[in-house]
Amino acid sequence: MKFTQRINRVSLKLGLLFSSVFLALIFILEMVLYGVFTNIFVDYVTQDLLARGNNHAKILEANYNQSTIDHVVTMEKGSRTAVLITDAKNQIIASSVKPDQDMKSHILENGTVKKNEVIEKDWNEHDYLIAVISIGKNNGHLYMYYPSKIIKEIVLVLKILIFFTFIGTILLSFGLIGILSQKLTRPLLIMKDATKRMAKGEYEQTILIKGNDEVAQLAKSIQSLGEQLQEYEDTRNDFLADVSHELRTPLTYIKGYSDIVSKGMYKTSEEQAEYISIINKEANRLSFLLNDLFEMSKLQVGKFELKREKADVHIIIEKVINNLIPAALEKGIVIKDETAIHLPEMYMDVQRMEQVFYNLIENAIKYTDKGEITVKSYQQKEMIVIEIKDTGIGIPSQDIPKIWDRFYRVDKSRTRKTGGSGLGLFLVKQIVEGHGGRIFVNSVEDVGSIFSIYLKSN
Ligand SMILES: Nc1ncnc2c1ncn2[C@@H]1O[C@H](COP(=O)(O)OP(=O)(O)OP(=O)(O)O)[C@@H](O)[C@H]1O
Ligand SMILES: [Mg+2]
Repeated sequence: MKFTQRINRVSLKLGLLFSSVFLALIFILEMVLYGVFTNIFVDYVTQDLLARGNNHAKILEANYNQSTIDHVVTMEKGSRTAVLITDAKNQIIASSVKPDQDMKSHILENGTVKKNEVIEKDWNEHDYLIAVISIGKNNGHLYMYYPSKIIKEIVLVLKILIFFTFIGTILLSFGLIGILSQKLTRPLLIMKDATKRMAKGEYEQTILIKGNDEVAQLAKSIQSLGEQLQEYEDTRNDFLADVSHELRTPLTYIKGYSDIVSKGMYKTSEEQAEYISIINKEANRLSFLLNDLFEMSKLQVGKFELKREKADVHIIIEKVINNLIPAALEKGIVIKDETAIHLPEMYMDVQRMEQVFYNLIENAIKYTDKGEITVKSYQQKEMIVIEIKDTGIGIPSQDIPKIWDRFYRVDKSRTRKTGGSGLGLFLVKQIVEGHGGRIFVNSVEDVGSIFSIYLKSN
């Protein structure tokens, strides 16, 4: 893999981002700690110097003679700190260590008198932290020294610690990049490969990604998308076969009978009328099929606009039933209209709603051999309910969820003789839901089906 390809990898980018944020935070934190530590520590040491110097000065003041001076100096010998005593003229008279240049340079000039105070705090520049305390009146001064070397050593240890935490953080972030690429990039690459194969037409892909996080969910969605595409592909192929079959049958009839009529090959005018009526019926069938296909393509490209107007469902249903009575009678089926007359008017696309009832009642006739069809409507709270009930062949329970899919038809052999493309219920559902309504079906095989539509009455 080329470097540019590597640098583009999501895990590397994320890892670098995380680690730089992390490093910056640690850096700030450590700087704060460093500042706080050195300040507090220096304050503590200088206060301690002052306190101890004060004690020494008090002893000296109480009893200012050579033996007390020796005693004070001896007390400081062997400790980290050093003491130095000067007389009233600021001349050194005793010291616990041999005074070096930095110690001497802080001794006050002759004539200068200082009270108790810290005169040197800068451990970075000087060899000692220094406090000076005056011994009574005109008895000179006492100096306490704390070697900066000790602080410098502690600070060095601190710096080494900071350095190692930095190195540790960098190593950790590389580890993080590794883990990220395992957890994030690898599944993404697997998905990329899978979608590439899907693009080539191998829709059904098994994408093995463990867990249930967003990435795993995405993998599952891609997989089910593939399955759906496969299903569409299958139904589309079936559909094309169906469509060509459906088109061919009426076209053969139309061609055959129009041939006969145009050549005058009939005996009576009744015969001629019958042929023409067959031609007319078949042309109607073609136009219905094309109409459904056209409607579906409109739904698919999202050009589905409802032309709503105030309307009475009862009137729409009545019209549809009247149109379908002849077809029902032909099969010996009665259509009972039990729709309520005084339901509130609703805003709806009348033509599309007509199509809904037409498709549902037409199905009821198509899939019923004997018995009756009942169309009911009533109000239930804020809902208007419309039910289309038949005593037909029913729908097997495993097919019920699929009947709303495009091109789906239960058992092809069962429905082939009835004709149809499997678009009817798809259109019905889209239209009802487009009106903010819901549609359900209740069906028992060999007993019958009830399709119920719920529409909001306001
Ligand atoms: N009332 C019903 N009784 C039994 N089966 C039904 C009923 N309504 C629909 N079905 C089943 O559901 C399938 C889908 O119905 P749909 O109306 O979508 O298609 P179709 O009637 O086959 O064709 P068309 O597009 O011409 O309406 C039908 O093929 C049929 O198997
Ligand atoms: Mg139908």
